[in-house]
Amino acid sequence: MCGIVGAIAQRDVVAHLIDGLKRLEYRGYDSSGIAVLNDGIHRVRRVGRVAEMEAAAAEEGAHGHVGIGHTRWATHGGVTEPNAHPHVSGDVVVVHNGIIENHESQRQRLRDLGYTFESQTDTEVIAHLVHHYLQTEGELLAAVQRAVRELDGAYAIGVVSTRQPDLLVGARMGCPLLVGLGEGENFIASDVSAVLAATRRVMFLEEGDVVALRLDGVQVFDRDGAAIERAVRLSDVSLASLELGPYNHFMQKEIHEQPKALADTIEQVLEQGFSPALFGDESGEVLRQVEGVQILACGTSFYAGSVAKYWIERIAKLPCTVEIASEYRYREAVANPKYLIVTISQSGETLDTMEALKYAQSLGHDLSLSICNVRESAIPRASRLVFYTRAGAEIGVASTKAFTTQLVALFTLAATLAKLGGKLSADEEHAHLDALRQLPGSVQHALNLEPQIKPWADRFAPKHHALYLGRGVHYPIAMEGALKIKEITYIHAEAYAAGELKHGPLALVDEEMPVVVIAPNDSLLEKVKSNMQEVRARGGELFVFADLDSHFGESDGVHVIRTPRHVGVLSPVVHAIPVQLLSYHTALARGTDVDKPRNLAKSVTVE
Ligand code: G6P
Repeated sequence: MCGIVGAIAQRDVVAHLIDGLKRLEYRGYDSSGIAVLNDGIHRVRRVGRVAEMEAAAAEEGAHGHVGIGHTRWATHGGVTEPNAHPHVSGDVVVVHNGIIENHESQRQRLRDLGYTFESQTDTEVIAHLVHHYLQTEGELLAAVQRAVRELDGAYAIGVVSTRQPDLLVGARMGCPLLVGLGEGENFIASDVSAVLAATRRVMFLEEGDVVALRLDGVQVFDRDGAAIERAVRLSDVSLASLELGPYNHFMQKEIHEQPKALADTIEQVLEQGFSPALFGDESGEVLRQVEGVQILACGTSFYAGSVAKYWIERIAKLPCTVEIASEYRYREAVANPKYLIVTISQSGETLDTMEALKYAQSLGHDLSLSICNVRESAIPRASRLVFYTRAGAEIGVASTKAFTTQLVALFTLAATLAKLGGKLSADEEHAHLDALRQLPGSVQHALNLEPQIKPWADRFAPKHHALYLGRGVHYPIAMEGALKIKEITYIHAEAYAAGELKHGPLALVDEEMPVVVIAPNDSLLEKVKSNMQEVRARGGELFVFADLDSHFGESDGVHVIRTPRHVGVLSPVVHAIPVQLLSYHTALARGTDVDKPRNLAKSVTVE
């Protein structure tokens, strides 16, 4: 959600700013803008895609050696050009991610000082506040340092002023911001993808940091205003991983990258076995104390956690609860400090998950583990242990390869806890490692089902509703399937544990209701078959994802696609693939925007 870029260079920075914003598009946005300094402030803003703003900037001949840019996902104030960033106050220009909670009181105070407001955004408060302090401090860096001390809430900002056109200032609290270090040029951005075209050398800012960027260097100040050094790292994200290559959509690319993403994630497990070392330095000490697991996550990550509950209880024999982070954080939870708090987040910056972790910590939970796909992001940094999935950059809003690699991480956690607790025999460990070794191949087999799934998508495309059914460890896969189809096709879909069918949803079933069933040959298959009969008897059309051992055939109104073999305990990972493909091809058939579904954001940094 929302993205920031900024640059100071000897060259014209407009192309860099726009390229950076395009790379941040995946985070979700509805308007965009840039401002560059030349003799004055040249600002270009547009509602809609960055490409429209780019065309306007070209037409107007925008150019400058220092500038900032922004993609906005509306929170305070509608999707309008006056609400789009950057916001200007006199000679000061600001872009901002996050939410300023005390904006009302600041707005009143600034009005009393004579400022007028042109937008409904909380960000304009920051622009005026910096402008106000620029008059008293006489210097942009000091003005920003004064201004941010008065902001409550979360922010990452970029600020420039024609008063000091040789300076770009950034600051962060609660929202990500990093610095890209070039040769005689420097950059800020919300995430590394937006600086990689210029440099791989990056510096992650800490909470409360303010940074001053000039052509020849960068100075960082901590929240107390003291000069401080922050580590410089070489990013391991490759530019190629951010490109589409031969694919039409990032979601398509990411679905097909899963065998590799899984193999990369599994590699570290196969090298070390189910060893605590996989989760970080302190993990032996932390994991040995664990008497139960509390998983907190949002969206697809929550469904990964929901699968893990079955594994942790079955394999590690530890109680496990899974909760939506936004619910947990406002619940009066009873803490058991011997429970491991596991947060799952692709981005590592989902606000509700971060706040749920902080809330758990405030309740006395000291044992925490983050499963995350983005290095150095906020949630792993706030956790004692971390397991980084190696899915590579995930750009499509609808999560795919992040989900399946999260499942591998969680399976590994279950087996590791089991081993530490003396619940895993050598034979079982060997079998689980072998299952992991086979997994990328099994996922490739599932991908090979694509030609069979396409005709199903054509039948799905005209539908308005769908039901997804599963049982046991495959019930969360039904939930993830329903979420995927909602997200990118806008078909209303609901998932049910198949045993619940007759307690309500069966009333919805008629010839118009496609019912997708996840039905591999596990211990609940016979139960699922009975549930399918209940659907068929009411005229519902069944679309069944099974495996070779499921032993039932096609018949009138019952369509079956089988994965080539049953893969045992890791079967949920394999069965995630066909539901992803069904959603993708249905979206193509309906002509929706696969990678940027309406109203959604990849990275949800607000409540
Ligand atoms: C958004 C994304 C989902 C994602 C969820 C949680 O809603 O669109 O794809 O599952 O956030 O994100 P996280 O980065 O914490 O896994």
